[in-house]
Amino acid sequence: MSPITRNRVAVLHGVNFDVLERRDPSFYGGGSLSQLETQIGGWAHELGLEPIFFQTNHEGEFVEQLHQLPELADAAVLNAGAWTHYSRAIADALAITGLPTVEVHLSDVENRDDWRRISVFDGLVLAKISGQGAAGYREALALLAKELGAG
Ligand code: DQA
Repeated sequence: MSPITRNRVAVLHGVNFDVLERRDPSFYGGGSLSQLETQIGGWAHELGLEPIFFQTNHEGEFVEQLHQLPELADAAVLNAGAWTHYSRAIADALAITGLPTVEVHLSDVENRDDWRRISVFDGLVLAKISGQGAAGYREALALLAKELGAG
């Protein structure tokens, strides 16, 4: 197998992920964002990917990070938290990146509140993975490694 040359993957977390360890463990597992990022980093390296991590609670900052993303990364894993369900601004900014992106949710958003079933990223992402906890990120990275390796 030829090595992946475009291998930079941005792992983007939105609002409330800075306090992940304080959120309901029955949905989010009880660990911190830094623990999650360490796990994701390990999986990324196993797949030959170079991860970069970003989190903010500020929608405008998230949009600006997306504007810069094509210079920083070749693909993205996106968990925008509650913004997923209503931020057209972030959806528009994601479309501008043109990067292959996989949407991930720790919890099973299809089987919680009705409003969590809606995603503004429908039609913009390669796949949406939810309800698998941290393992969902490994699956997202594997999909992106395949996508980038095939290019
Ligand atoms: C989440 C699901 C969202 O509905 C919620 O607002 C979050 C986390 C998840 O990872 O399960 O903040 O994106």
